[in-house]
Amino acid sequence: MCYAIPGKVAEISGRVATVDYFGEKRKAYIDLIEDLRIGDNVYAQGGFVIRKIGEEEAKEVLDTWRELFFKLQEQDKKLANNPQSLFERANAIRQKHQGNSCCVHGIIEFSNYCSCNCLYCGIRRDNKDLTRYRMEIPEILAAVGEAVSLGFQALVLQSGEDPYYDDDKFEAIVKEIRARHPVLLFMSIGERSIKAYQRMYNAGARGVLLRFETSNPEVYEKMKPKSPPAPIFQSGGLETRLNLIRTLRELGYLIVTGFLIGLPGQKSADVMKDIKTTASLGAEMFSFGPFVPHTATPLANTPTTDLSKMLKIIARTRIMNPEAKILVTTALETLYGLDGASEALMAGANSLMINVTPKKYRRLYDIYPKRFGSEMETMEHIEKVINLLQSLGRAPTDLNVQT
Ligand code: 5AD
Repeated sequence: MCYAIPGKVAEISGRVATVDYFGEKRKAYIDLIEDLRIGDNVYAQGGFVIRKIGEEEAKEVLDTWRELFFKLQEQDKKLANNPQSLFERANAIRQKHQGNSCCVHGIIEFSNYCSCNCLYCGIRRDNKDLTRYRMEIPEILAAVGEAVSLGFQALVLQSGEDPYYDDDKFEAIVKEIRARHPVLLFMSIGERSIKAYQRMYNAGARGVLLRFETSNPEVYEKMKPKSPPAPIFQSGGLETRLNLIRTLRELGYLIVTGFLIGLPGQKSADVMKDIKTTASLGAEMFSFGPFVPHTATPLANTPTTDLSKMLKIIARTRIMNPEAKILVTTALETLYGLDGASEALMAGANSLMINVTPKKYRRLYDIYPKRFGSEMETMEHIEKVINLLQSLGRAPTDLNVQT
């Protein structure tokens, strides 16, 4: 866990530092930072120290935060008090094990080309009506620079499975970003070779977002057709994908994974298995969202999932996984707005993402229609999220907000 405020390194033991935040101690890996010493002021994200800052800067931020830090914690505790219902119990477990920290990652969607033809997805290969785009390295760097200047310290780079970006390009993207910005980088680029992922890790990426979509192999086969013709990177079915996620964890990546809720053929028992599968993959963050129908796909007429069912699944997931980060997905926000997000945060969830893709591309990353945030200015979106979190006594942790 980590706060968007700087902490002080209290101890270093091998690869791990103990970081102190107003008396609360957290552990974080130090391999992204050179020459770290006891007493240094640092930012940590997702369990990694990502940046050292000077004493002056640290003092300034801490002075602004001190009062709010304890006030938010108090309010969060009060709201989690005396749990009765399923949602309240889940929220109390979240409060006890995870405190009031809420990860807020930025997401940049840099290409909507995709060689896969998943039945549920609006950017599937066979959607010929979609205007395709891809960003070159300088454009990606500019988007990352913009996100960092807004305060983001953890970013997800996402695309369809686009063969235009080969292993060299991906390595270069990660290297160039890391040379300029001390951000925690998550790659969400689909099924690539282990070698490609190893190179990105060596270049400084530390997270992967890759959902397995469903743990039911028959539903998986139906939803992700392999032929004809076979997608370029996707070499196998569900087991291949699960094995890739397992290997990425072994390489040292933080894993964000999960599934879709409401796919045709999916049963309630499947969803319970999906939750267990996510846990068994060692996910540091659970990412599962409702399926949203898209008119340009074969599932145009498949209904979506209602909010109360979504909230129950979030609450059960929290009760089964006290230590996990559970994401309020954009799909849930798209269907049920920030009020829905608020209910999800009160039913056990504790992470959010904000779309920081250049606005001209946002609407084109059309995995499902009218995605939340695609018509909003980024600043407006950030303000809405911060207001929501603070109204619930939560502290955004991956966003260096100065309130
Ligand atoms: N509804 C909801 N989520 C979708 N995704 C793709 N298409 C849809 C849809 N129609 C999700 C998939 C994928 C992630 C990037 O977006 O789960 O992993």
